Amino acid sequence: MITSKLPNVGTTIFTRMSALAVETGALNLSQGFPDFEGPQALRDAVGRHVNNGHNQYAPMTGLPALRQQVATKISRSYGVHVNADAEITITPGATQAIFCAIQAVIHPGDEVIVFDPCYDSYEPAVELAGGRCVHVQLGLDDFSIDWQKLTDALSPRTRMIILNSPHNPSGALITHAELDQLATLIADRDLYLVSDEVYEHLVFDGVPHASVLAHEALYQRAFVISSFGKTYHVTGWKTGYVVAPPALTAELRKVHQYVSFCGVTPLQYALADFMAMRPEHVEELPAFYQEKRDLFCDLLGESRFSFTRAAGTYFQLVDYSQIRPDLNDVDMAVWMTREHGVASIPVSVFYQNPPKGQRLVRLCFAKREETLRTAAEKLCVI
Ligand SMILES: Cc1ncc(COP(=O)(O)O)c(C=O)c1O
Repeated sequence: MITSKLPNVGTTIFTRMSALAVETGALNLSQGFPDFEGPQALRDAVGRHVNNGHNQYAPMTGLPALRQQVATKISRSYGVHVNADAEITITPGATQAIFCAIQAVIHPGDEVIVFDPCYDSYEPAVELAGGRCVHVQLGLDDFSIDWQKLTDALSPRTRMIILNSPHNPSGALITHAELDQLATLIADRDLYLVSDEVYEHLVFDGVPHASVLAHEALYQRAFVISSFGKTYHVTGWKTGYVVAPPALTAELRKVHQYVSFCGVTPLQYALADFMAMRPEHVEELPAFYQEKRDLFCDLLGESRFSFTRAAGTYFQLVDYSQIRPDLNDVDMAVWMTREHGVASIPVSVFYQNPPKGQRLVRLCFAKREETLRTAAEKLCVI
């Protein structure tokens, strides 16, 4: 008999819904990945570096040229200076970065506050470190932080709070004022932050992203995590990074060097080249994805789904209360896939205790115009 270290973990809903989409031939708007290619110059650069002998281990901390490009991007985006050698670590994906940050500072018995609906990789990482997640629900209407609930959840054992903005699955954003409020709330507490900002450049309607990198007080205790996969349309490259003050970076690297040691070498060279060549790529992303969001939402305006346009990320939540209130969201997602050819993700899977009566599914709009039009057509006849 195996005594599982993660007895509550099974196959994720993302895998299940993607498999169902393949089985039924449905359009897959469930898992979050683009159905279009990343920039040609970026892909060409990988081939060049593979053929030019960049195929052995990268430095443990990441290729210096890529860390420097990340520092330059941070300075351009947020007006803050971070030290590329002491504060930036390249990782094989944001998921691995989150895992390593949690292992680096969470001890058995520690509590970690997460906000529901919550990305699914946090809790298993906390449990493997011997910690326990304390789930705090975000507001039901706008997915903002409920400060009373957060205050009530804090205890002497709280060692970490995990933030995620722009937020998967809701697309909600944390504001700079909320970061101030958080800084005040935790000022006298000995705890760390993981700030999952993998959608940092997918923020719409001219609103700036409030990064923890640009919040001096919070950054002193934070691991800020991002993903090249989201930013450069190459999720399969599983390449990300962590920015943290030197002392936290040193602890993170102790874990990272024994989990993977380093990220994939030719991908790091290619990303460094492309970021140097096209630094404006990130500044063009909001308009690029906002156009997709608006096309999709305009078309869905003809449907019986109700929704508020996502403020960030490439996910759109839609409420199906007017369509099949008799179905819970998992059954609804399966029914939509089998009967109407569009796969989605039920939002209840992001909760420890899903709110009663919530009728929401998540649709990914990181898709070609043609895919979005076909999906909307199918969704409008439900
Ligand atoms: C909120 C959030 N964090 C982290 C990740 C993981 O990023 P990566 O693919 O770089 O591991 C994702 C991917 O879907 C995500 O949505």
